[in-house]
Amino acid sequence: MPDIHSQRILILDFGGQTTQLIARRVRECGVYCEIHPWDLHVKTLTDFNASGIILSGGPESTIADNAPRIPDEVLSLDVPVLGICYGMQSLVKQLGGEVQAQQNHGEFGYASVTLQGSCSLLDGLNDRDSENQDTESNAPSNARELDVWMSHGDRVEAVPDDFHVVGVSANAPIAAIAHKSKPCFGIQFHPEVTHTLQGATLIERFVLNECGCDALWTPGNIIDNAVEHIREQVGDDEVLLALSGGVDSSVVAAMMHKAIGSQLTCVFVDNGLLRLNEGDRVMETFAEHMGVKVIRVNAEERFLSRLAGVTDPEEKRKIIGNLFVEIFEDEADKLSNARWLAQGTIYPDVIESAASSTGSAHLIKSHHNVGGLPSEMRLKLIEPLRELFKDEVRRVGVDLGLPASMVYRHPFPGPGLGVRILGEVTKGYADTLRLADDIFINALVKHDLYDKVSQAFTVFLPVKSVGVTGDGRRYDYVVALRAVETIDFMTARAAHLPYDFLDEVSRAICNGIPSISRVTYDISSKPPATIEWE
Ligand code: XMP
Repeated sequence: MPDIHSQRILILDFGGQTTQLIARRVRECGVYCEIHPWDLHVKTLTDFNASGIILSGGPESTIADNAPRIPDEVLSLDVPVLGICYGMQSLVKQLGGEVQAQQNHGEFGYASVTLQGSCSLLDGLNDRDSENQDTESNAPSNARELDVWMSHGDRVEAVPDDFHVVGVSANAPIAAIAHKSKPCFGIQFHPEVTHTLQGATLIERFVLNECGCDALWTPGNIIDNAVEHIREQVGDDEVLLALSGGVDSSVVAAMMHKAIGSQLTCVFVDNGLLRLNEGDRVMETFAEHMGVKVIRVNAEERFLSRLAGVTDPEEKRKIIGNLFVEIFEDEADKLSNARWLAQGTIYPDVIESAASSTGSAHLIKSHHNVGGLPSEMRLKLIEPLRELFKDEVRRVGVDLGLPASMVYRHPFPGPGLGVRILGEVTKGYADTLRLADDIFINALVKHDLYDKVSQAFTVFLPVKSVGVTGDGRRYDYVVALRAVETIDFMTARAAHLPYDFLDEVSRAICNGIPSISRVTYDISSKPPATIEWE
């Protein structure tokens, strides 16, 4: 079995908005990489033993006082280096070139970079092909141009000795540089974003050709390595897992089961706030088809009685979270041999917690555990997905035999329908919402729209509105449909679902569910709204 960590790229993060994308592009080449803050400890750098280093972009200016800089130890390593945007400017500045602030010459968004000279990283790349003919002679132009995405205010004015310019753009006369004899490159544009058409190819060339890495980071190899590592870590101990039916905990369950079989016990808490038939489906997938030991705790009654009369969203969240932990701990106590708690922590959680503890990046949120389980439990933590991005988790899940419909499902919040029923939660409301949501989601799947939106669901509004069917007057509840498009769930816009589709869903819900007389579509963006209603 190949060692998937034997060749590895270090990404030094200068706080760029797209640093995680760089890592994903490297992983897509089949090569392991990690993101570390630019001011990492020298020991971390040495221990990492990088096959190559990528310097990210960042929001600062290299000419400002106390600007983040590339550690000298990085520059003295004998490995290939690729500086992107701020990373390139930092290289230039620290190796004796010149960077200047530009009042009116920043480049943001699309730009065209004309390549010149010879450079192993860029030779042969061209977005212009034969369409770019020399109109006078009708001969193909020799110009090699790349369509790229830029985001910089400062620009490089002079390259250090030993470097030459290999790309220019309208507002960056030095848009790409290469060392004359070493594999050290700088590019002002961002190859990690898809708007840079040759970006993925460029990163692949750097990682595979310049750094000489092999494509070992594949779902099959990841699983084999993880299975071996889990067996070593756990030995004969028993492991507990809170299985929610969401992607991360499901993939952990499948992975742990492959590694240690019946030493794994999953606890699945059915809180009565799940989607239609969800509990049965989870049991069917894991217990019946995959032979995973799953304890199903039917706790609908306990959750609903604690939630009775509670209307405040945060209060509801707290009640649901605390009760979940109580029930899970009760079950854990019954399994006195369990020594480990498996969790679905994934790589972005790890990066975000690391960055927030160093305070060196512009950061966002701190990591919270799957299921909100308390860290002071007597169990040791095992986190087999902590090196994986979400898309890698999904691919690994499919490779482990989980159904694609489970692995590619939209996210579902921990408190479930508890925050999709506005105000007080009752069984009647939850049952009605489950039916309406099922109609909406099935229609999205039927019309091939499910995978085109990032998240879709239905919200129950506990207000009554007048309707009419036949000759009869109705006075029934309202539901809102919500479908959003988003990359990171921090901002989102309402999906532009076809009108005819919405009409069909509205009719199916009002005709099929007697207690609903009206369907609305939520067109709010985030911000100012949030994705969920509570
Ligand atoms: P909001 O409503 O904050 O949602 O725009 C952003 C994403 O987070 C999910 N969400 C939650 N997930 N527990 C969770 O596990 C929660 O309390 C919670 N609240 C919102 C939401 O579904 C969306 O994907």
